[in-house]
Amino acid sequence: MKVLVIGQGGREHAIVWKLSQSPKVDKIYCAPGNGGIAELAQLVPISAMDFSGLAQFVKDEGIDLTVVGPEDPLTDGIVDFFEERQLQIFGPAKSAAIIEGSKAFTKELMKKYNIPTAEYASFDHYEEALAYVREKGAPIVVKADGLAAGKGVTVASTLEEAEKALQYIMVDQGFGEAGARVVIEECLAGQEMSILAFVDGETVKPMVPSQDHKPVFDGDKGPNTGGMGTYSPVPQIDDAIVEKAIAEILNPVARAMVQEGRPFRGILYAGLMVTDQGPKVIEFNARFGDPETQVVLPRLETDLLDIFLATVQGELENVEIKWKPEAALCVIMASGGYPGSYEKGKEIRGLKQLESDENIMVFHAGTKQEGDKVLTSGGRVLGVTALAPDLEEAQRKAYEAVEKIKFDGAHYRTDIGSRAIQSR
Ligand code: AMP
Ligand code: GLY
Repeated sequence: MKVLVIGQGGREHAIVWKLSQSPKVDKIYCAPGNGGIAELAQLVPISAMDFSGLAQFVKDEGIDLTVVGPEDPLTDGIVDFFEERQLQIFGPAKSAAIIEGSKAFTKELMKKYNIPTAEYASFDHYEEALAYVREKGAPIVVKADGLAAGKGVTVASTLEEAEKALQYIMVDQGFGEAGARVVIEECLAGQEMSILAFVDGETVKPMVPSQDHKPVFDGDKGPNTGGMGTYSPVPQIDDAIVEKAIAEILNPVARAMVQEGRPFRGILYAGLMVTDQGPKVIEFNARFGDPETQVVLPRLETDLLDIFLATVQGELENVEIKWKPEAALCVIMASGGYPGSYEKGKEIRGLKQLESDENIMVFHAGTKQEGDKVLTSGGRVLGVTALAPDLEEAQRKAYEAVEKIKFDGAHYRTDIGSRAIQSR
């Protein structure tokens, strides 16, 4: 089979890497891909948002399945576009991807179907939003309604911070159209956990849980990023809580989407806070997480192509999904300055020496190949994952690998996984 993966981050590198292990996959293409993906797939210089260019390429090459990584083409309807042309594609239709595309839609949905989440209100007018924030006081969470690459959320511990965020989103239009509306939420306390699931209508097959680290600096300091590192399993969170989250959140939301006439087919990602009252939803995404995918897929035993095909064909129910008992831990190496402005084009050294260890996976995010050099080309540059018998060992091995990789201004957190390990 020929498969096209759309996207260019570490998540897509992990998807391509896993698909490349399937005996049924003859050739992988990636549009547009990056410097690491180039080792496993033929890169196709077509943007993820150029639906007609992509569809034409798929027809010309006789590609059997297209897999969509990022959210923007999904919320813009790439799946509908392909299906109208009888092209097989893995991902939710536009009407279902709205679960990520509009926080206001999803908050309404959760209210209607009694799915536990933070109290909230949404506003189209700055003055009203400001009055609400002042009435509620800090701590409080301010979110741009639309997509903002994981950076549209401010968890404000003071009123001043909350007001600044509102000003940035609604008055300065720092996130453009995504900030025409804001969602203001109660601040939830507890530990975060991500549960991703393969979903085909009402059938939900959860993946192993993982924990992301959003803030840029050690000890969860500094601004939020797309994610600075992750690990799986999450031993400090009981299996019973994971079961509860599946029973009270993932299964009901899949059913709710069917009832709303928006059946979800693809990857549903639940970002959860484990509070004293049980797990509550922070957000849903309509795609694989980045960097969650870089620890979840290395633990997947089952052929990923089989799962994708079964989901697309509405037969997910018949697939048994198996996981490896090993732990995986991923450290993101970012460009200095990220998530603010940063420089690109720095040479990355030390990658070759890591290729011989099959339990170290260096997933490329913002890189590009130039001659025989690999250069930085984005904020998050690499996701260095280690797979090992337990988390301590995975953490040690991942950091050992990170220390061998060098580029100017490289920044990474040194405490990925420490909370899980200390809690033992
Ligand atoms: P989101 O983009 O909605 O996932 O939010 C990004 C991050 O902000 C989350 O991963 C949490 O760390 C934090 N966050 C979002 N909403 C809340 C909330 N209601 N209470 C506490 N933290 C939150
Ligand atoms: N790591 C968070 C996300 O993919 O949205």
